[in-house]
Order: sequence, then structure tokens, then C-alpha cells
Amino acid sequence: MLSKMKVVVPKEIVAFVERELEFDHSGHGLQHAERVFRNACAIMEEEGRGDFLIVAVSAFLHDCIDHKLFEDLEKQRAKIVRLLDGCSFSKAEIEEVLEIITSISFSNQKSRSLTSVNAQIVCDADRLDAIGAIGVVRAVSYGALKGRGFYESHTELEHLDDEDDTPPSGSTLSHFKEKLLKLEALMYTDKGRQLARRRTRFMSLFLQEFADEVLLE
Ligand code: ADP
Ligand code: NI
Repeated sequence: MLSKMKVVVPKEIVAFVERELEFDHSGHGLQHAERVFRNACAIMEEEGRGDFLIVAVSAFLHDCIDHKLFEDLEKQRAKIVRLLDGCSFSKAEIEEVLEIITSISFSNQKSRSLTSVNAQIVCDADRLDAIGAIGVVRAVSYGALKGRGFYESHTELEHLDDEDDTPPSGSTLSHFKEKLLKLEALMYTDKGRQLARRRTRFMSLFLQEFADEVLLE
């Protein structure tokens, strides 16, 4: 059993996530799921909102139906239904968990905004794990996995703060500008925004320091 405050996530669910995401080396494994769970708990504790069990279970399972990781999404859904049914979740609870998991992956593609508080909390918790020191490590690891350099050119480093509309270079650095530095503004919850502020400041500092070291300024 893994617990934080009032939430106890059945050990079968933790073992399922570990098994399903065992193959992943792009930052979606069990450690990511655990951090998202902890972020979600911090948000719920601070804000006194959210259904603890639904949010905790959704946080753990959120990457187990992801088109980037799995080809057969129907099969993933069926596995999750079986898992939760075996843990005595009701049909309505299972539907809600599935709805949260699928809706947050849509929102990551910016195609719609979330209205359910539980989904908003899981989404913020997932986004928090893409920023800050953890975010730097995940982005660098992801870039390395894809064979990409951290930066493309000195020009890219000289224009870190520019609001440019030039097409992204494809470097890992451009992922910070395109997505990671923008996540703070997209947070749904106050606690999420508060945690995001510090993490965003850290990323900006890190990028500035990196550029200064390369450019010797
Ligand atoms: P999640 O599904 O958990 O929200 P993503 O699949 O979008 O996360 O990305 C997983 C991790 O890889 C994140 O930390 C993200 O910042 C990083 N990542 C995704 N795309 C890129 C990219 N093009 N360059 C560098 N890092 C990336
Ligand atoms: Ni995730």
C-alpha cells in the first residue's frame, strides 16, 4: 500500500503501473506516476478540494492509456477496467478515472480545457512534473533518447528571452520555450500555480546560466 494523508492506493494498482510502464525510458515510469500522485495530494491538501481516491488512482494510472506509449488504447482501457473492478471500484468510479486519464492527455495537446475539478488536479500534478529541476532532467533525458542536441546554435542561446515566432528548431532547448516555460500560466489550481512559479523560475535561471556558460558572458 502506498499512502499519503488519507489516501491509500491499492498495491495492485502500483504494481500494474510498474508492469505496464516498465519498458518506458522517456520519463513515464513508476517514479513519474508516484511524483504526480504526490503533487496531486499536495494540491488537494492545500485546497481542500478533489476526491482523494479518484484523483490518487487517476494520477497513478494517467500514462497507462497514452497514444505515445501504447498502440492499442482499447486494450489499455480494458486492462484498467479489469484492474479497478478487481479492486472493488464501482462502475461510476471506473468511468470517472477513465474520463480523467483520457481528458488530461487531450488537454496536454491543448485541444480542450478541463471542467472537472478532479481532472484539473491530475492535469496540474502531471504538468508540475514536467517543470523545475525534475523537468530539466526529464527534458534532457527525452532529448537524448531521441538523439537531439540540447541547443542548435549560439543564436538560439542569445535569444532565450525573445518572444519569437520563428519555427521551433527541434532542439531540447526549444521544447522549454515552446512548452515548459508556458505551463505555469496554464495551471488550473492555485496551489499548482504556486508550485509552478518556483519551478519555472528555476528553469529560467538554469537556461540563462547555461547560455552564459556557452557564450562566456
Ligand atoms: P506527459 O505525458 O507525462 O505529460 P510528455 O509525454 O508530454 O509527458 O513528455 C514526457 C517528458 O518528456 C516531459 O518531461 C516532457 O517535457 C519531455 N518531452 C516531451 N517532448 C519533448 C521534446 N520534444 N524535447 C524534450 N523533452 C520533451
Ligand atoms: Ni505524465
